[in-house]
Amino acid sequence: PAHIPVLCIDGPTASGKGTLADRVADQLGYWVLDSGALYRATALAARCAGVALDDEPRVAALAARLPLHFEAGRCFLDEEDVTDALRAEEVGLGASAVAALPAVRQALHQLQLSFRRVPGLVADGRDMGVAIFPQAQLKVFLTASAAQRAERRYKQLISKGFSANIAGLLQDLEARDARDKSRSASPLAPAQDARLLDNSDLSIDASVEQVLAWWDEKRAFAD
Ligand code: CDP
Ligand code: CDP
Repeated sequence: PAHIPVLCIDGPTASGKGTLADRVADQLGYWVLDSGALYRATALAARCAGVALDDEPRVAALAARLPLHFEAGRCFLDEEDVTDALRAEEVGLGASAVAALPAVRQALHQLQLSFRRVPGLVADGRDMGVAIFPQAQLKVFLTASAAQRAERRYKQLISKGFSANIAGLLQDLEARDARDKSRSASPLAPAQDARLLDNSDLSIDASVEQVLAWWDEKRAFAD
């Protein structure tokens, strides 16, 4: 479905990708792909099955037949609602470990492409613009300072009833950034044709406005 428009939002952890993707998709009436949820679900499924996170063939086999489905904004693994469980920080760290395995990335590739449906898709992750949708109409690389991101993640976790401390979060987030950037399989980096957006001092509303303005600009060119 090469004609279906795709808008990619890639960037480091807690930069606000998910929030921005949801808001932009809402405005455009598009579908959303939260690709991080697929890696998180793979890590969770491995933990439940007692599979070690560095056992590449077995983790990839789990990823290839992930019993995952999305319904009314909730995420289910088999019949279990795992929406909140997926957000736990240790699941994020586990996701970053399994995401470094090439066979796991390969196993999730096709599933990610299947989210491209009419009238369009907003895809959020690390490698949406570089590896999954290289032909996307617009690629945004979203960043914010590590301190800002740690504070945002802290508030988000507390509001969901998880316990957290900022110093620990900052450390985890820097470890995860380092691993995501240095791995050989699809390292975290902006696509050559990505637009950079640093939202350290930008509200969510202002970020949404900026991305929609870029989108209108691109669409005006395409028509
Ligand atoms: O919400 P947050 O940005 O912390 O994480 P996420 O987007 O849910 O992704 C969790 C982990 O999955 C990341 O640390 C990445 O290692 C990995 N990931 C990836 O490798 N490629 C993607 N397209 C999305 C996530
Ligand atoms: O998906 P990602 O991990 O990149 O981040 P997120 O879950 O969308 O955002 C992390 C937290 O930062 C959320 O609670 C957002 O509401 C908050 N945020 C913010 O306070 N200001 C922004 N400009 C963007 C996000």
